[in-house]
Amino acid sequence: MNFWSLSKAKNKEGKIAIVTGANAGIGFETTKGFAKIGIITIMACRNLEKAKKAKDEILKIYPNARLDIIPIDLAELSSVKEFAKTFKKKYDSLDILVNNAGVMMTPLQKTSDGLEYQMATNYFGHFLLTGLLIPVLEKSFRSRVVNLSSIAHKWGDIHFDNLNAEKGYNPRKFYAQSKLACLIFAYHLDRKLVNKNYNIHAYVAHPGVSKTNLMQHLPKFFKFLSPILMPLLSQSAKRGALPILRASLDDTLNGGEYIGPSGKKQYKGHPVIVDSDYHSKDEEKAERLWKVSENLVGFNYL
Ligand SMILES: NC(=O)c1ccc[n+]([C@@H]2O[C@H](COP(=O)([O-])OP(=O)(O)OC[C@H]3O[C@@H](n4cnc5c(N)ncnc54)[C@H](OP(=O)(O)O)[C@@H]3O)[C@@H](O)[C@H]2O)c1
Repeated sequence: MNFWSLSKAKNKEGKIAIVTGANAGIGFETTKGFAKIGIITIMACRNLEKAKKAKDEILKIYPNARLDIIPIDLAELSSVKEFAKTFKKKYDSLDILVNNAGVMMTPLQKTSDGLEYQMATNYFGHFLLTGLLIPVLEKSFRSRVVNLSSIAHKWGDIHFDNLNAEKGYNPRKFYAQSKLACLIFAYHLDRKLVNKNYNIHAYVAHPGVSKTNLMQHLPKFFKFLSPILMPLLSQSAKRGALPILRASLDDTLNGGEYIGPSGKKQYKGHPVIVDSDYHSKDEEKAERLWKVSENLVGFNYL
């Protein structure tokens, strides 16, 4: 079978992309892929030292890569607004927004905006960022928003009565909720963009199980087992980035597709169109989540 690979991405040189969390793991490999084919990439990172190190590493491989760093902390709404302002001052248009940055199963923590930390970083920050960048995305031809979801979206649902952990907290369930929210958001964003005749499409992708720093907050039991399980079940971050690269670059996609690994249970493999859980396709739930998100981030769009 002829699977998608980066070599199939044609005529992308000079396009402009933003990758959040570009300094590590999937974001780093996505940025490297963009650099390889001449895409100007803005590395949206919270730690400038790490970002600079990652940029230098990519420049060693692709000395002509055009990489820029703009700081962002997705867990702080004011930082997201500042990022969008800085980006718009420096660039007139945007072709690809990859909403990649994420944390998993962190201990209970609230942001200064009063949001639960995993929901804030993985979902609410990206919801606001996307809204603020719609005007610059609309200036490019067939631009894209790519959200990051996970197999974990199947573990839960959206609990509207406890979105910010007012009534209890379970790290695993809140990670699942945040990744389901990213999926619902991408599908609904694409529907809204199509209905309003925008020139932008939204996609969603997941890297299966990939070797990155994401697992640092896993319970001790899993950490103990991971040297045995990870080699069997997981793939490299470079392979894990392929679904994200495909969602960002494949011109044969229509919009609204979910891309993930082809293998058993979607743990690893080639980047193919995959299906998501029924919870993610409920349009009423999607509109309710959209409205709640607009309220919580204080910004309305579409
Ligand atoms: N790895 C997997 O198996 C897997 C599976 C399913 C989904 N995913 C998704 O893939 C995405 C990338 O994760 P990864 O596996 O590459 O993990 P990773 O290696 O831990 O990278 C996460 C990136 O996000 C950044 N980040 C975290 N919080 C941030 C914040 N508040 N503001 C700005 N940047 C922030 C991190 O920055 P620092 O370096 O400063 O911490 C890092 O650059 C996530 O959305 C994750 O949910 C991963």
